[in-house]
Amino acid sequence: MRITASQVREMKQKGEKITMLTAYDYSTAQIVDGVGVPLILVGDSLGMVMLGYESTIPVTMDEMLHHTKAVVRGAKNSLVVGDMPFMTYHLSVEQALGNAARFIQEAGAQAIKLEGGVNVAEKVKRIVECGIPVMGHIGLTPQSIHQFGGHKIQGKSPEAAIRLLEDARALEEAGAFSIVLETVPAPLAALITQKVGVPTIGIGAGAGCDGQVQVINDILGSFADFVPKHAKQYAKLTDIIKNAVTEYYNEVKAGSFPTAKQSFTMDESILAGLK
Ligand code: KIV
Repeated sequence: MRITASQVREMKQKGEKITMLTAYDYSTAQIVDGVGVPLILVGDSLGMVMLGYESTIPVTMDEMLHHTKAVVRGAKNSLVVGDMPFMTYHLSVEQALGNAARFIQEAGAQAIKLEGGVNVAEKVKRIVECGIPVMGHIGLTPQSIHQFGGHKIQGKSPEAAIRLLEDARALEEAGAFSIVLETVPAPLAALITQKVGVPTIGIGAGAGCDGQVQVINDILGSFADFVPKHAKQYAKLTDIIKNAVTEYYNEVKAGSFPTAKQSFTMDESILAGLK
């Protein structure tokens, strides 16, 4: 049975820690789902780790829908959250509703995520009213990277900390079922977690959040460009892949791959006839 947004909310009440991971393709989604991770985020981080863009800004709706469809096909039980890309919900409530609906109707996601707090609360409210569960995202919101002037920790001054708390409350009031807190000091994230009734899911926000989210390539060590401070590498796939590719390359060059084991035979008499 697929997990629902209300079950995610209940996990906070029960004090159960919530795990979320990104996935961008069918076979990775199958693995993450198989482990029992309740939430899969098809993040717009795919712009960097899958498509090689410098930031999430160039990611389009079509790219997001393409990857979300693949993840939905691979995930049988996890709740799949589609990430609304830059400028696909900023122009008007109608635009936000239309694009949120595409994630649900065309791609088969069960929820959407968008960045912002007080400034997007009205849109969150209308999307939720239409029956689409919404995950909020505050703190370091990568779509506003040019405004922040880099990947800086958010909420360090008293004013900024109060703004973050107001953003979290606005999202809860608008009906968001959970809120991502990105790159926020751990004590502030813990305080926000206490002050709101919906689960907080941290990334670079310490252990006091209700749950944690990571970009899967960061925990697998399969993205070579950079490793964020908040990520722990549970594997080093770049090394494993590099070794396997090198071995394959060397064996093909040397003529030692393929062997009989990877080849197919046929009736010798048919072959003799052809000769
Ligand atoms: O796009 C993404 O992967 C995200 C997570 C880092 C929360 O927004």
